[in-house]
Amino acid sequence: MTTLEPFTERIYVTRPVFPTIEEVTEKLRDIWLAKWLTNNGPQHTMLEHELKNFLRVPCLSLFNNGTIALMVACQSLRLSGEVITTPFTFAATPHVLTWNNITPIFCDIDAETMNIDADKIESMITPHTTAILAVHVFGTPCDVEKILDVADRYGLKIVYDAAHAFGVEIGGQGIGNFGDISMFSFHATKLYHTVEGGALTMRDEHVKQRIDLLKNFGIKNEEEVVMPGINGKLDEVRSAIGRIMLGYVEEERQRRIRLHAIYNEELSGVDGLKLMPKCSADVKLNYQYYVVRIDEKIFGRSRDFVYDEFKNYNVFTRKYFHPLCSEFTCYRQLNSSTVSNLPVANLIGQQVLSLPMYGGLSADDVRKICVILKSFKR
Ligand SMILES: Cc1ncc(COP(=O)(O)O)c(C=O)c1O
Repeated sequence: MTTLEPFTERIYVTRPVFPTIEEVTEKLRDIWLAKWLTNNGPQHTMLEHELKNFLRVPCLSLFNNGTIALMVACQSLRLSGEVITTPFTFAATPHVLTWNNITPIFCDIDAETMNIDADKIESMITPHTTAILAVHVFGTPCDVEKILDVADRYGLKIVYDAAHAFGVEIGGQGIGNFGDISMFSFHATKLYHTVEGGALTMRDEHVKQRIDLLKNFGIKNEEEVVMPGINGKLDEVRSAIGRIMLGYVEEERQRRIRLHAIYNEELSGVDGLKLMPKCSADVKLNYQYYVVRIDEKIFGRSRDFVYDEFKNYNVFTRKYFHPLCSEFTCYRQLNSSTVSNLPVANLIGQQVLSLPMYGGLSADDVRKICVILKSFKR
């Protein structure tokens, strides 16, 4: 029986998956024996290979985090001028554009998927546009066909921020096959992680070669530095942890599938709550997040009320993504940041709430979180 007593311990929106200390120690021993800590060592080489197979992509380049990876993706494609992106994302997405001296142009989002609205992209294109940087928000795939269509018609590059989409597939194809380059984040809070880390995936081996140079200061050999690169390398310790964590992903995903089903069962039919978007049957999701949208007019309580009130029960949810990137002080002066240009994003930014989701939660925990949430309704 669930009660409305607060949880005795804090329930966070997520918790990292930990490998056993024994597995880590064993791998550390291998690294110590090899006497190789970073710069394309054996663990790095093996992880690139294993991830390429896991993600079903032709080429993959590991990075020390997703943000540097995305910065390098923009550099490698020589993007400039303006890039059309979404305001409903993590700060890193528009920031990598700014760091590349590119102006982010915010396009409104789709009311169902919360991803960039592919039908609105065309209206944001100017003679300065060089690319579309779309995000598979919460692991729900973007409308990749429509985005490809508009990009092809205007000669634009496509970069996907797939930070949330590890292991997602469309029609049996890894999500990293779409667009010119996709970025994955392996941050500790993600379904799959290397503590900190990330990767770029691409179809073209030449693009990978350029990316591999860019992430290593542009150093081609001991005599030649051929471009102004950066340090984006993933070290041996985190590569080794990444290799261990590959063995945990599917079990963690299965646990989250079960928790998703409980959330759906408990919360469907509650007036004023909109649950995760439904995807077509050929999409394999990763179930990394569980997000609800709270319509204050119908639910009788605002998202902010629910967020604050949950804390009294020791439940720490997150307002992903609020504030919108278009509301940040560094972006709010852009013409594309106006509320009239982004009505859907502004509405959803006020409604969205990420609920606790990680394999260590029990079914009873999730049921109790749902009972608490429903008790807030007026
Ligand atoms: C959508 C999105 N893009 C980019 C990033 C940045 O990735 P990283 O933390 O690996 O730098 C994150 C999150 O961490 C993210 O959620």
